[in-house]
Amino acid sequence: MKNFTDKLSPSITNMIRMDHTSVLETFHQYEMNSAPQTKKALVGTICIALEIHAQLEEEIFYPAMSHLAADTPIVGKSVPEHNEMRRLIAQLRAMEATDPTYDQTFLQLMKDVMHHVADEETTLLPDAERLIPDRLGELGMQMTKRRLQLMAPRAGEMAMNTARTFPTSSMLVAAGAVLAGTYFAKRTMSRHH
Ligand SMILES: [Fe+2]
Ligand SMILES: [Fe+2]
Repeated sequence: MKNFTDKLSPSITNMIRMDHTSVLETFHQYEMNSAPQTKKALVGTICIALEIHAQLEEEIFYPAMSHLAADTPIVGKSVPEHNEMRRLIAQLRAMEATDPTYDQTFLQLMKDVMHHVADEETTLLPDAERLIPDRLGELGMQMTKRRLQLMAPRAGEMAMNTARTFPTSSMLVAAGAVLAGTYFAKRTMSRHH
């Protein structure tokens, strides 16, 4: 009988797809006109997500696929692509969001990640589902365990980035309240005339 946990754990391929979806969604929140600190915080969230995802793939998913290398040539270029991504991440971290090349560097990272994700989702993940269907649950379990280990030391950093993306929305609420206040003040004043 298959391990009980295998049935509870999502397959590693679906977990990888979920990670891709969530990081792309964060990429889509970046706007050219956003405040520099909002950009920095979004980029911070994206970078941590990408680093953890890449490490999980390299430690758990790619090794499971690489012994089938003849069928999956894409594994060979995946690690160099992760390294190129890490180079752009390091560049973004070292830069101020007001740097004239910040947006461009961010967009390059986005382009590379979209390309890499497209390759994985159209080649590697279907290959895994075709070649090692029985191992996907167990690998998914391993990925969950390892993810918790990798996330623990970075929890503070992640919370900080999330908090930094919020001031904008609280400021909008505050601005809304001020506008509403002005409106009521005007109405009250006009009644006195
Ligand atoms: Fe990857
Ligand atoms: Fe991936």
